[in-house]
Amino acid sequence: MLLNGKIALIVGVANDRSYAWYIAKALKEHGAKLAFTHLPGEKNERRTRKALESLGLQDAWMAPMDAGKDEDINAAFASFAERHDKLDILVHSIAFADREWLQFGKFTDTPRAAYLSAVDVSSYTLLGMARAARPLMQKAGGGSIMAMSYYGGEKVVPGYNVMGVAKAALECTSRYLAAELGGEKIRCNIISGGYLRTLASSAVGGTSSMEELSAQRAPLRRATEGDDVGRTAVYLASELSSGVTGETIYVDCGVNLIGT
Ligand SMILES: NC(=O)c1ccc[n+]([C@@H]2O[C@H](COP(=O)([O-])OP(=O)(O)OC[C@H]3O[C@@H](n4cnc5c(N)ncnc54)[C@H](O)[C@@H]3O)[C@@H](O)[C@H]2O)c1
Repeated sequence: MLLNGKIALIVGVANDRSYAWYIAKALKEHGAKLAFTHLPGEKNERRTRKALESLGLQDAWMAPMDAGKDEDINAAFASFAERHDKLDILVHSIAFADREWLQFGKFTDTPRAAYLSAVDVSSYTLLGMARAARPLMQKAGGGSIMAMSYYGGEKVVPGYNVMGVAKAALECTSRYLAAELGGEKIRCNIISGGYLRTLASSAVGGTSSMEELSAQRAPLRRATEGDDVGRTAVYLASELSSGVTGETIYVDCGVNLIGT
């Protein structure tokens, strides 16, 4: 029970295959109280609610938030603050890019609007949410912010394209946040997760064989599981990582080590 007394806001549970679902599961197992946002709309709310019920979280606090809109971020955090007197943990597990440009050979053709929207929703949102979380984390005497990235933000992964650009921006944003918020004992880190079949990853072209391929290449000789990421999230959320900020931690069974 490493997270007793801590409150976490988790952004990105779409269903019970989402990385955010596994993070919620692990934080709950360690005693954290959990709150969530979902994309606006009744269907999205129902989908997230159903996923949370499978974790035994029938009564979890939830609010709608399209993170691509400042007014939504502000409204969701204001509503959170009405019900909670502090925030200890913020989980950013969202990304979006138009799937038309996530196909092999399509990067050079990416229109300006598609590029900017990928970076807006997948990267800027970390900054926007960190800013909204800051006063609530100050009340907690510090906090832990974490966001999900992928190796395609560092090296070229065919088809990952503009999402790779957005992940590079996300990782750099995390480092600048870490530097600026560290004086308030707010830490910010990235989990670079291995391939997991989810709604988001299935939008990337050519990923149908990724699970098998990465299991073959991985030093641990297996595919990454959601629970692997969940356990690392507990480490980052807890005092076990008290001296760790601005880091990118790979949870990919070692795939990032392999050069060929
Ligand atoms: N699945 C993988 O292989 C993999 C690997 C490494 C990193 N990641 C990252 O993990 C994170 C979660 O993705 P996932 O794979 O669990 O897929 P997912 O589809 O389950 O989750 C993506 C989430 O992003 C949310 N989202 C999209 N646009 C949004 C917006 N405007 N406002 C608020 N929320 C929005 C969706 O509602 C959804 O909950 C993403 O950052 C993704 O890039 C995924």
